[in-house]
Amino acid sequence: MVRQLFLGPLIQTNDKEELIIKENVAVLVDNGKIILILDNQTDQFEREVYEEVVLSHGQFMMPGFIDAHTHAVQFPNLGLGYNKDLLDWLEIYTFPLEKEYSDMEFAERVFEAVVKRTIKMGTTTACYFASLYADVCTILAQKTAELGQRAFIGKVNMNAPRDDGYCESTLASVIDTIDFIKSIEIIKNPLVKPIITPRFALSCDMELMQKLAEIAKTKDIHIQSHVSENKDEIIAVKQAFPHLPSYTAVYDAAGLLTNKTILAHGVYLEDSELAILKERGTAVIHCPSSNINLKSGLCDVRRLKANGIKVGLGTDVSGASSYSMLNEMRSVLQVSNCLSLTRDNYTPLSYKDVFHMATLGGAKALAIDDKVGNLMPGKEFDALIVDVNAKDSLLDNFKEYTLEENFQRFIYAGDERNIVSVYVKGKKVK
Ligand code: GUN
Ligand code: FE
Repeated sequence: MVRQLFLGPLIQTNDKEELIIKENVAVLVDNGKIILILDNQTDQFEREVYEEVVLSHGQFMMPGFIDAHTHAVQFPNLGLGYNKDLLDWLEIYTFPLEKEYSDMEFAERVFEAVVKRTIKMGTTTACYFASLYADVCTILAQKTAELGQRAFIGKVNMNAPRDDGYCESTLASVIDTIDFIKSIEIIKNPLVKPIITPRFALSCDMELMQKLAEIAKTKDIHIQSHVSENKDEIIAVKQAFPHLPSYTAVYDAAGLLTNKTILAHGVYLEDSELAILKERGTAVIHCPSSNINLKSGLCDVRRLKANGIKVGLGTDVSGASSYSMLNEMRSVLQVSNCLSLTRDNYTPLSYKDVFHMATLGGAKALAIDDKVGNLMPGKEFDALIVDVNAKDSLLDNFKEYTLEENFQRFIYAGDERNIVSVYVKGKKVK
């Protein structure tokens, strides 16, 4: 039994999305689970029982980042193809790369880098689109288990026929998905879970989507996809499903919308679609870097939230050119600032809002806020130790800053060099 005691400042958000700053807390962790958090009471523990981590001046604890939408297979394409829009980018850059993953050795090499690097960036939970190929998805699951990242792994489903053969039959899609889920069960790591992953409505027909929804229901597992990302995509979806009133209605008709479903982008969702998502408890994952790189659009997060939609944050690599959630938070702020310049009475999101989105907001979107998202008794210790004085840090210390100022500086101007330790369920993974 491992017992740990973390002593120092703690910054996180609560269920009301408020920023809570505590100058000095004691967080007691037992086998990865937080059993007690005390304010300003450090001396009543039998110290020798614990592995003790005392934070130094300039350091603070915070919950780990939750990247709620990223494509592990697309990492080799970081920075490529942003002169294209979504549908051309998929055809010219993304699908050809993804097809290369029939090479298991290549997959292993990429996934090792993906998991190590995202952990280094402070991503304690990642929700991955893996590959079309089930055995390759299992390699990613094994990597996350081995390296200690909390992860959802999705075997991508695509049965729409394609000339290049990067697709599968309905039967193979279903069988491989079931086999993949079993392969994750065999890993027996509570941190690693399968997630049903119909790529998007242009990649799957209604029959396949219904079958996938059935699997998700029977096994009580999460679902992820893309929705309403790009205007040409939306027109194509309306042509593919002419009898259904909207993009969201397609997924709803398939039974894919549950309170464990997350849909990336949602840039152009109509009011009627927001009503469906709210009713189903389905979350939207905001991916602003990707939306800008691929010129998809400016998603209005305030509108989603005002309509009662849960919103998480995702890098959507390689739509984004960075796998850093800090970078993604800055993209949220930039997009929101741009929206405020073009609209009357629009209050841009603040650094507190984006911090919530990158932590507890993501946990709520994924319905795992009983376990992670912030540090509370009963939850698991997924946390970062941030140090504004870290070696080689981009942050200088020309003067004394308050804790909140240091936090702000980290959000706007820090990087992974300031993330000196990363813990997932109490285990130090960086
Ligand atoms: N829609 C369908 N597939 C993809 C993908 O790989 N990336 C993005 N950004 N959108 C998609
Ligand atoms: Fe995506």
